[in-house]
Amino acid sequence: MTKRTSIGLGAVALALVVLVWLFRLPSVATMPLESSEASIQRGAYLINAGGCISCHEGQDSEGLSGGMALVSEFGTFYAPNITPDMDTGIGGWEGKDFLLALQHGRGPQGQFYFPAFPYRAYGGMTDQDVLDIGAYLLSVDPVSNRVPPHDTPVWLQRWMLAAWNVMADVAGEAEPVLSEDPKVHRGAYLARNLGHCGECHTPRNGLGIPMLDQEFAGATLGESHADAIDAAGLMNWSEDDLAFFLFLGMKADGEYIGGEMESVIEHNTAMLTEEDRQALAAFFKRQR
Ligand code: HEC
Ligand code: HEC
Repeated sequence: MTKRTSIGLGAVALALVVLVWLFRLPSVATMPLESSEASIQRGAYLINAGGCISCHEGQDSEGLSGGMALVSEFGTFYAPNITPDMDTGIGGWEGKDFLLALQHGRGPQGQFYFPAFPYRAYGGMTDQDVLDIGAYLLSVDPVSNRVPPHDTPVWLQRWMLAAWNVMADVAGEAEPVLSEDPKVHRGAYLARNLGHCGECHTPRNGLGIPMLDQEFAGATLGESHADAIDAAGLMNWSEDDLAFFLFLGMKADGEYIGGEMESVIEHNTAMLTEEDRQALAAFFKRQR
């Protein structure tokens, strides 16, 4: 073998290793889904804390049967039917399918989900919380509703998300929570993971990757703007102002909120326990 062919073969081998690594399916626990009433009830609460209904709500409020058009600069994505219908929903899903989807953005066949589904935020959820969500989703009545295919530009392909995820992994990290107060940590989990507040409030780079070094610094969403909710943005809000806002939508200045935040309050934060709203407030108002 000449030197050149061996270098060539080496390069091909390296490229193959990189490809296999990029497309490998993450290993997830193969825990069975519980079907206990307790698990289902925890799941119902987590569905609220995760704001799933804001996107997956069916027409005529038909549960989580999907169909809502989510318009973004990368195309129009239709939230799928996540009721356990065998043909048009997620009937037959197992524990590992929920873990792969919510923690890794991968479908049961290994396909990559588009980040219109905020799986990068949900990625930090505990296995138990994901499995409780799964238990709840499989317990609701199946609704038959076939949602339209996504309307995306031809150049945008699912496999590209393999590289996008790697870029997002290295794009910077959110500030670690230094507080020793468990309430602040609970708030961080509710804000960063379940509530995915940063999906709207953190600015993104040209590839649509949230810039976590500017976490919650405010971002433009099409026509509207999600205000800064970092330390500077919430300077004039007390913890109680914020907890009250998350319950009723009334801002520190007495005005009621509108836009996309209204749905976040209605389907997510207003449904939480007062303790969890206080935890969110404690996280956002923490002393750095
Ligand atoms: C911001 C909108 C949005 C929110 C919030 C959201 N989803 Fe989704 N979800 C989507 C979109 C869009 C897809 C489809 C992604 C794709 O096809 O690549 C999806 C896909 C899914 C899938 C895969 C369905 C399938 O048929 O393969 C599951 C399961 C799911 N979401 C569950 C949830 C759960 C549980 C929550 C709340 C914890 C949630 N989603 C919150 C938009 C959202
Ligand atoms: C789907 C996008 C979206 C999500 C998710 C979201 N927000 Fe918002 N938020 C907005 C928009 C848009 C506004 C501005 C609404 C307006 O003024 O019409 C806003 C406004 C706010 C305000 C008012 C700020 C001010 O100075 O007036 C607060 C506080 C807030 N959001 C907190 C949160 C928290 C906490 C979360 C997570 C639990 C969250 N948001 C999740 C879109 C979102």
